[in-house]
Amino acid sequence: MKILVTGGAGYIGSHTVVELVHAGYDVVLVDNLSNSSPKTPDVLSSMTGRALPFYEADLRDREALQRIFRTEKPDGVIHLAGWKAVGESVKLPLSYYQNNLMSTITLLEVMEEADVRNLVFSSSATVYDQAAAMPLKETSGIEAGNPYGRTKEFIEKMLRDTWEADKEWSIVSLRYFNPAGAHPSGRIGEKPNGIPNNLMPYLSQVAAGVREELHVFGSDYPTPDGTGVRDYIHVCDLAAGHVRALEVLSDSCRYEEINLGTGAGTSVLELVQAYEQVLGRPIPLKMVERRPGDAAVSFADTHKAVALLQWKPERGVQDMCRDAWRWEQQQAAEVLQ
Ligand code: NAD
Ligand code: UD1
Repeated sequence: MKILVTGGAGYIGSHTVVELVHAGYDVVLVDNLSNSSPKTPDVLSSMTGRALPFYEADLRDREALQRIFRTEKPDGVIHLAGWKAVGESVKLPLSYYQNNLMSTITLLEVMEEADVRNLVFSSSATVYDQAAAMPLKETSGIEAGNPYGRTKEFIEKMLRDTWEADKEWSIVSLRYFNPAGAHPSGRIGEKPNGIPNNLMPYLSQVAAGVREELHVFGSDYPTPDGTGVRDYIHVCDLAAGHVRALEVLSDSCRYEEINLGTGAGTSVLELVQAYEQVLGRPIPLKMVERRPGDAAVSFADTHKAVALLQWKPERGVQDMCRDAWRWEQQQAAEVLQ
């Protein structure tokens, strides 16, 4: 079975490609490299021992996409291509709607023309209403709080409508919680542009001495230690969830929304402690004001993923910190070469 992975050169896409190849799938990558390195497709070929076809193309380029479908004849698609920076989406909402929505619409139209109706989509826990009770269930209220999140919310609705209109489609929207860590080989990982917004890459840069100290956004939340609680999930576990979703899709025609998280909450200070254990030294930090728009607590109800996908994460926060740190050191070594 051949799977086209859009956004395959990105953080989650690259790990998903490795997992797919190991599970026996043929894999084709499409990416416009707007937020990834041109080296990644070669690294993936070297890691998997397979010459993986890579197309540098924008998903909004209909003719390019049609050519890829004609040449490669994929059986299904994992659609990860999109922009994801919350702050940037607030400043540039139309660019975000243009890129994330138009890419998806073009992809769906080209898939339909090519009679390919198996799709796994990268959604996000950011679609949930922050006021919803924890743990977040797939049936909890939906109300994204920023333009990026709304692109995910709208795409989910579009996917449901597509399936309602033609029940030959088989679509799964995977709502990721907080992906973290890197491949244990140290060869692929997350490469944020500029100052990282997310906690784990920021922590890694403080550990490496690239940044002076971690700013902990808020210490007065109604949580056990006062800092924000999230459901961090190892990117390799997340990648494995995609493979399971494909296996479920190939069984039946349906539309499903499924949380991919661990079901466990970890506070900022607990994550810092786990990182410090990996490093064997303290990480400098400073308590600062809450970041506007942040929820106090967010973690997944994982029952649906366990029941439908027969999938459970295998790695914990210590593994995420260890692998993130190995990747950070690998990056530093490359800069020195
Ligand atoms: P990423 O930026 O590393 O990967 C996305 C890839 O898509 C990049 O390589 C980028 O070059 C490519 N891309 C963007 N627009 C494109 C277009 N029009 N045509 C072709 N390629 C395009 O991000 P990631 O962390 O790997 O995220 C993958 C997906 O998962 C995204 O859709 C993101 O919104 C979603 N997601 C990510 C997180 C997270 O914390 N990383 C959480 C929830 C959901
Ligand atoms: C953020 C995005 C969310 C996106 C998710 C995954 C916001 C408001 N939300 O979620 O839409 O889906 O990333 O990409 O941007 N923290 C610090 N110091 C830092 C960075 C973070 O204390 O330098 C804290 C935050 O306040 C939060 C926790 O660490 O409590 C996790 O933050 P982050 O990694 O940015 O993820 P989310 O806020 O969950």
